[in-house]
Amino acid sequence: MSGSPIRVEQRGPVAVWTLDRADRMNALDRETLLALGRLAREAATSESTRAIVVTGAGGKAFCAGADLKERRGMSEGEVRAQLDLYRSELGALDRCPRPVVAAINGVALGGGLELALCCDLRVAAAHALLALPETSLGIIPGAGGTQRLPRVLGEGRAKEMILLSRRLGAAEALAWGLVNRVVPAGVDVVDDAVEWLRPIADGAPVAQSAALEAIDRALDVELDLGLTLERAAYEKTLSTEDRVEALAAFAEKRKARFRGK
Ligand code: COA
Repeated sequence: MSGSPIRVEQRGPVAVWTLDRADRMNALDRETLLALGRLAREAATSESTRAIVVTGAGGKAFCAGADLKERRGMSEGEVRAQLDLYRSELGALDRCPRPVVAAINGVALGGGLELALCCDLRVAAAHALLALPETSLGIIPGAGGTQRLPRVLGEGRAKEMILLSRRLGAAEALAWGLVNRVVPAGVDVVDDAVEWLRPIADGAPVAQSAALEAIDRALDVELDLGLTLERAAYEKTLSTEDRVEALAAFAEKRKARFRGK
């Protein structure tokens, strides 16, 4: 994909998307947002991609947030249009039915952390640094941070991060539940994430998408409706060959071979 701000590499069933603007700490400009949204929409219907890893080029930054150089030349109207783009394109990533992991290989600041919050799981290098510093810049998070962060951390810790522009290192982010895993020193975060994803890559994709769909709605609706949504999601797995294969594999004491059907 030459000329694209995102490098795409297929590692078996796992697609690795690398924000490829290391000279700007992989900051999000208009082109990068559009590319992310396009890839997410394509992945939703891809049969060959079972899971996605999103990361940044270079060893310093996952993503340093909004491209502040691009932003400086924007009118208020253009900033509004960019906020709309965050919503539509990062929204496409958030809604992607394939499991998405953020491999946080350095700083994840502002929109960079908001991008990671649109992923389903987060793996961090030991030197990663995560923060939403927007209020210290006279703005607020504009790519979903005020809504997605409390859903992950709870209200108190989200307010602490946003109002104090609090920076979390990897160990603290793990303790707070902001990342799922910190990669052992000396191990590449993308290699680690791809290996960690193996149960997903080998698993039953219809079931995984159905589980994601149900979980993603869980915090938005009251319990009774949530249970109805869970039932509807379960229904999608009932008629699959993979469900029958899993039962056969159990009876025959062998590993199931899932085909995504
Ligand atoms: N947008 C555009 N360019 C950015 C950027 C951003 N968000 N963040 C970093 N860069 C650029 C720098 O301007 C610099 O470019 P230059 O060499 O042309 O001057 C290059 O990336 C390297 O950054 P630098 O600041 O020299 O590296 P550092 O290791 O000292 O610090 C950061 C890295 C990410 C901590 C620091 O650049 C930073 O704080 N960036 C702003 C992050 C931010 O506030 N994001 C939230 C926006 S709401």
